[in-house]
Amino acid sequence: MRRLENKVAIITGAGRGIGFAAASAFAREGAKVVLAELDETTGRRAAKWIADNGGEATFVQTDCSRPADVQNLVARTMELYGGLHVLYNNASVFLQDDAAATQLDEAVWDRVLRTNLDSVFLCSKYAIPLMIAGGGGAVIHTASSAGVIGIPGCDAYTAAKGATVALTRSMAVAFGPRGVRVNCICPAGVETEMLKQSNLENPDFDSEFFFRRAPLGRFGTPEEIAQVAVFLASDESSYINGAILRADGGITIAPIS
Ligand SMILES: NC(=O)c1ccc[n+]([C@@H]2O[C@H](COP(=O)([O-])OP(=O)(O)OC[C@H]3O[C@@H](n4cnc5c(N)ncnc54)[C@H](O)[C@@H]3O)[C@@H](O)[C@H]2O)c1
Repeated sequence: MRRLENKVAIITGAGRGIGFAAASAFAREGAKVVLAELDETTGRRAAKWIADNGGEATFVQTDCSRPADVQNLVARTMELYGGLHVLYNNASVFLQDDAAATQLDEAVWDRVLRTNLDSVFLCSKYAIPLMIAGGGGAVIHTASSAGVIGIPGCDAYTAAKGATVALTRSMAVAFGPRGVRVNCICPAGVETEMLKQSNLENPDFDSEFFFRRAPLGRFGTPEEIAQVAVFLASDESSYINGAILRADGGITIAPIS
């Protein structure tokens, strides 16, 4: 039996990057996957790719920071599959004009917090009752190295990711007794478009320093994070609740050299 057989999963931001890798991996493991993606082109392409490769996937165009969109997402999922077992809150943005607090435009702060944190709250708010009604489930949040160590120059992103870590703990305590486990993945240095936007296209980013400091000496791949998500979504992690799992090759615990 495949690891996610008979499970229905919503993955936000599944059009590209880690979300797409996770949607593909979930489908390979037998899940029916709902791709909640803002971008229609990538969302459609991702669902088609999964279906062409033998998986079950549906694209529902969703702005996860908008309550009406999230309500529609959850209603469509129920219509299509009659239940929900996994919510993977992965969607996020990193904006080039994010900055240290003193330099940070209020509109940038609002947009990042809305997209990166309101989306986690809204998807959880509308999805978890269905999981509870169906006997339980697994929620996976996505934070970042920025949620567990001090990374300068992106205070809006950091605030959203730090809050996601805190929310993981409170939700794990609140919903564990009702059969819903809540865990969080903290990636760093994963080869996606966001990595380019946050680091590689930043003239101040010192990639030499990154590789010197990173214990594994390389970036991660989206598939490596997707495998962590498969584990947290599956019954293999049935005793894991409230975990803040760093999937970063060890960079956040490495000494500065
Ligand atoms: N790549 C890294 O190194 C890294 C490091 C730390 C944390 N992360 C986190 O991992 C997650 C995935 O990152 P990624 O690198 O794959 O990013 P990415 O930018 O490649 O993909 C993000 C996806 O989310 C979608 N999205 C954005 N706003 C949305 C919204 N409002 N509603 C629905 N979809 C929306 C985008 O269209 C895109 O398809 C994010 O939460 C990110 O913060 C990534």
